Amino acid sequence: MDTIVTPRHVGILTSGGDCPGLNAAIRGIVRAGHAMGIRFTGFRDGFRGLVHDRTMELDDAILSGILTNGGTILGTSRDKPHRMMIGGKMQDMTGAIVDTYRRHHLDALVCLGGGGTQKNALHLKQAGLNILTLPKTIDNDVALTDITFGFDTALGIATEAIDRLHSTATSHRRIIVVEIMGHRAGWLALGAGIAGGADVILIPEIPYDIDKVTASIRARTLAGKRFSIVAVAEGAMSLEEAAKTEALVRKLDNATSKAEKKKAADKLTALQEAHVEHTVRLTRRLEEMVGQEARLTILGHLQRGGTPSAGDRVLATQLGTRCAELLRDGVSGVMVAARNGGAEPVPLEEVAGQKKLVPRDHPWVTAARLVGASFGD
Ligand code: F6P
Repeated sequence: MDTIVTPRHVGILTSGGDCPGLNAAIRGIVRAGHAMGIRFTGFRDGFRGLVHDRTMELDDAILSGILTNGGTILGTSRDKPHRMMIGGKMQDMTGAIVDTYRRHHLDALVCLGGGGTQKNALHLKQAGLNILTLPKTIDNDVALTDITFGFDTALGIATEAIDRLHSTATSHRRIIVVEIMGHRAGWLALGAGIAGGADVILIPEIPYDIDKVTASIRARTLAGKRFSIVAVAEGAMSLEEAAKTEALVRKLDNATSKAEKKKAADKLTALQEAHVEHTVRLTRRLEEMVGQEARLTILGHLQRGGTPSAGDRVLATQLGTRCAELLRDGVSGVMVAARNGGAEPVPLEEVAGQKKLVPRDHPWVTAARLVGASFGD
């Protein structure tokens, strides 16, 4: 954690995938910050906005009505400062970003983002900028924060989808597989699976055995149930896929040449990103192995769009206003984390590169098992 003099001019950007609550957080930072005498300039489209100097003055008028809006008024992108496609070439734009920061006489920069953004923020801190971050993502996988904003809204959307799938599943005596976002973490599928009463919940942290999944569906049929709902996290893996992934990670760690490293990394990315193919294959196998008609629903970006839930508005406002207080107190080099009902600064060095996955013995996993959900393990 670093201490600087109270900043007078602060930049704000949103980076990574958008999520509900970003505008509420921007409003929280700026409203509270204005009252403390801080001026804010927004940079559009993530870190790219700092490279191309795309700005938006964040005055009081612009904040009107944004609390309830999804997305981000600043726009976002997945660009990284040190690896950005410019003119068809991948370039390190750290120097250009530092120049823009200095040219605008910024005293600090607030980056609202997920796991990738925490790493990029640390990189810019190491380049000499005063940086604070806020943890946002529907995946809830940012380390050292109890929760991220965006998660609660997505949880509500995915739960409603499972609720709706029940009536059509039972009418047709079908298995319905529903793919839920979450990147490599199972928080969203697990939460929605519990809240929606899914019969099978498959998450990346608990690789599944297809025979055990089919056995649990057959047991339901024998018990007279007409349907089964299978909630699958986009990062879910069978035991075989998990073994393949582990072998590739080992190869990557032990690679001695650049070419070898690239080959293993490309294979790993291809395997991890083939989630739609995986879920389609899983649905077909369940249909064949159980002998019951199956259908697949992929919720996709619906889970990230639209109005933030009340919970996300409260959380984003709490983290945003705490961020303003930390700015006022001259604190930088931290993520403003949700901890024990409050908001606390956590050093970027401790957050960057970490991921919060679902522990196999998490109380949510236990609760799901106790109400009869199968994890296929
Ligand atoms: O990180 C949020 C998230 O929605 C993940 O759940 C998902 O894997 C990813 O973003 C999708 O990214 P994109 O919007 O770039 O397709």
